Amino acid sequence: MSTFVLMRLLESAPRRYDLGIQLLSLGQLRKAHERMAEQANPGERVLDIGCGTGSLTLLCAARGGEVTGIDISLQMLDIARTKVAVAGLEERVELMEMSAVDLDDEFSAQTFDVVVSSLVFSELSDDERRFTLRECHRLLRDGGRLVVADEVVPRSWPLRLLSRVLRFPLVALTYILTQTTTQAVPDLEGTIADAGFAVRSAEHSLLGGLEVIVAEKREDG
Ligand SMILES: C[S@@+](CC[C@H](N)C(=O)[O-])C[C@H]1O[C@@H](n2cnc3c(N)ncnc32)[C@H](O)[C@@H]1O
Repeated sequence: MSTFVLMRLLESAPRRYDLGIQLLSLGQLRKAHERMAEQANPGERVLDIGCGTGSLTLLCAARGGEVTGIDISLQMLDIARTKVAVAGLEERVELMEMSAVDLDDEFSAQTFDVVVSSLVFSELSDDERRFTLRECHRLLRDGGRLVVADEVVPRSWPLRLLSRVLRFPLVALTYILTQTTTQAVPDLEGTIADAGFAVRSAEHSLLGGLEVIVAEKREDG
């Protein structure tokens, strides 16, 4: 849905992010996070790329996952730290200030059972997205799962047209206020498959604009 463009505005005011993103997504992001966290089993090692204020990290940890959350924003991480402490989950959560594009320096191959990422790939360039997905493949053990939720370009042409028309003024406003932008990801499933994953499920909501993908690492990928 086009209003995800406005999430850049929310990121510039992290204290309002959780409430704002739930309003912008009409509660669908919370539902997406719950479906994503179902992939984290007790004791499994989980990486949350672009964990932000830690909502998905916390859900995975509450299910018994050992979660590492990374993000480039110290302000978002500060809020995540507070939420983790309030939930009493410090022993199961590690939060690190780092970029997805530095994953290759930090972790060795097959470190994780599950990689999750929500609303981050739409903030990366095409090259960064492809690099990060290849890194996800390297970091997962054989048979490990990649679970991604993001704003995507809708498949049907009327919805694509509507999304373009609605997006333009929001992109302009967001850029004026934050000098940043996002792009709905074209063919997220195909890009994930290109990185060596078999897509197991793909669910759309918000008029086809929000997609949750569960994929499994292909050993021959
Ligand atoms: C829209 S927020 C999503 C936060 C959270 N995953 C959620 O679903 O609410 C995007 C997050 O990605 C982070 N981010 C953007 N580019 C990144 C990068 N290259 N590496 C790591 N985090 C990044 C931002 O700092 C921000 O916290």
